[in-house]
Amino acid sequence: MDDKKTILSGIQPSGALTLGSYLGALVNWAAMSEIYDCYYTIVDMHAITSRQNPAQLRNTALTQLAQYIACGIDPDKNTLFIQSHVPAHAELSWVLSCYTMFGELSRMTQFKDKAAKNADNINAGLFTYPALMAADILLYQADLVPVGSDQKQHIELTRDIAVRFNGIYGDVFNLPEPYIPKVGARIMDLQAPTNKMSKSEIADGGCVLLLDKPEDIMRAFKRAVTDSESSIRYDLANKPGISNLIQIYSACTGKSLDEIECEFEGQGYGVFKAKVGEAVVETLRPIREETLRLLADKSYLRSVYDQGADKASRTANKTLRKVYKKIGFIER
Ligand code: TRP
Repeated sequence: MDDKKTILSGIQPSGALTLGSYLGALVNWAAMSEIYDCYYTIVDMHAITSRQNPAQLRNTALTQLAQYIACGIDPDKNTLFIQSHVPAHAELSWVLSCYTMFGELSRMTQFKDKAAKNADNINAGLFTYPALMAADILLYQADLVPVGSDQKQHIELTRDIAVRFNGIYGDVFNLPEPYIPKVGARIMDLQAPTNKMSKSEIADGGCVLLLDKPEDIMRAFKRAVTDSESSIRYDLANKPGISNLIQIYSACTGKSLDEIECEFEGQGYGVFKAKVGEAVVETLRPIREETLRLLADKSYLRSVYDQGADKASRTANKTLRKVYKKIGFIER
């Protein structure tokens, strides 16, 4: 055994991955595999808390796996798996839901948001979603959970559940911490730059998908909403559109915000937007090509998720067995 810290994170296959998913999450995930023991999952069980088209769900999940790899997450150095392939997630989730309070779940802002948006499908899974997420994390005794700031509340609840459980049964679960990256963390919508770039809002052209073609990416950046000034200056409060474009350009080129302000001093928005578009096109080009190549090799992808499920199950089942024993289930 090594003493590397453990990382776990996941993304729902409820829509195509975006530039925001890449710059906000996947780039960092790939970099972490050298230092940490990383588990990255495709949380299809979370995705069905809203209604999914079955063929599309399968396709999105497989594409997501190919994209994890294409973004540099090496399947030999990381554990890449599909949540529903590791039954321990469903099993521990049930147990944890018996140690999670109705009041706690009622206070989750994601639940309140999603319930408001899907008034016709406020199902029990949407409500108990955080218990499944806690299971995802606690099964692997994760130390750190890279997430966007919107998921912090779920990690805090995970800790509360773990503390409660440990308080009754002794040290079973490691207490995880959220790991919220500072740079590139929040890529905003190009049409509504005060909203996070989200896969659920692709219709208006404010969202760039990882598989978008170069000409579509260029068009999205040329149409990006800015402001009525003409200076290329980072000012999040007053110039959210330009600030977002500066962030994106910085993330794609490695240049600092200051360097970018200098580079475009005295230039117009049109020139800048085209430059940002080109930088994004070049960043995404190899990822798109590699994703398409991997998607054509289904047997390879299958070998990756099979191997991932085996590896993940070994760790997860260890924790699950311990939990079952502690709570008094008869050993099989
Ligand atoms: N709830 C997360 C989201 O919507 C996805 C998720 C599910 C997750 N299980 C996880 C993230 C475990 C980190 C760790 O973004």
